[in-house]
Amino acid sequence: MSKNRKDDHINIAKSFKKKSNMFDKILLEGTDLPDLSMDDIDLSTEFLGMKVPYPFYINAMTGGSEKAHKINEFLSKIADHFNLPMVTGSQSIMFKDPSSIDSFKVIRNNHKGIIVGNINPNMTLEQAQVAVSTIQANALSIHLNVIQELVMNEGDRDFRLWSNHIESVVKHLNKPVIVKQVGLGLSLKTIQKIKTLGVKYIDVSGSGGTSFIDIESTRSAKDYSYLNDFSIDTAQALINLKNEKDLEIYASGGIRHPLDVIKSLILGAKACGLSKWFLDLTDLEFAAAVKKVEEFIEDLKKIMLILGVSSLKDLKQVTYNIV
Ligand code: FNR
Repeated sequence: MSKNRKDDHINIAKSFKKKSNMFDKILLEGTDLPDLSMDDIDLSTEFLGMKVPYPFYINAMTGGSEKAHKINEFLSKIADHFNLPMVTGSQSIMFKDPSSIDSFKVIRNNHKGIIVGNINPNMTLEQAQVAVSTIQANALSIHLNVIQELVMNEGDRDFRLWSNHIESVVKHLNKPVIVKQVGLGLSLKTIQKIKTLGVKYIDVSGSGGTSFIDIESTRSAKDYSYLNDFSIDTAQALINLKNEKDLEIYASGGIRHPLDVIKSLILGAKACGLSKWFLDLTDLEFAAAVKKVEEFIEDLKKIMLILGVSSLKDLKQVTYNIV
């Protein structure tokens, strides 16, 4: 991926405004008698089998350009400050342009906690191993983005090896592997196939936030927005997976505020990934960004209190209506 394209993605994603999505149609029932104090609320959970203090993480974005280096430097300091897992942007560029490696290594230099590498499924097992070892990642994510590739003039056109590569990486990497979409949502058909490849963790990464169809349409000036028809809203993707027992499910795509996190957890997600929300923080001074994340955590606790539950596992008891 070229450095210019990386910077285009950042600039265009930043220019998009928040929009309404299906989380707005899910209404939770609160209580005025929670019988709890703020101090009782415990937000800790597990992320890909590892203990974490909060049910959200910095999701995949960037690497490979000077601007990407600065963003990764800033966000990895935030990740370290709060002990949040951080997913890197696609590391595929490392294999074409070795000078890009530092923009990924900076994440491990700043962050002692959980780092998840990120590759596309063209990468072989050997490349996946290099991606992980370069940044001493604790896990690896593989992104599926067929539509994004097809709407890019310079994108991939041959997807024959993707399933084989995923299967081989899951089997031999010896680290947790999470398969994610990039904001258009994993379809049930994709998920059924993913399961046969041995995958245990998925991030549905649905629509309702950043859309790579819209980003690529803006870049190329050819309007492919009608292909958003294929997208699956994040809340809908979680509802579709309500009876799923074999996979641990993560939610991203259009997580705009703490209430979207709580709704995702109620709908069955283990934790939530936020990209655009964290990208917007990079415009702030570090102290101001820290304050925003502190407020986010505090507001998660306030919502738990409104719902009358003290731990994330108790969210299962919360009733909701879809309007
Ligand atoms: C992304 N996303 C992404 N995903 C991925 O797996 N590898 C990548 O390299 C990138 N690159 C990237 C760049 C930028 C600028 C953005 C905003 C996003 C997709 C991201 O991880 C997530 O799936 C979507 O952005 C949806 O989440 P939000 O933005 O609605 O919170």
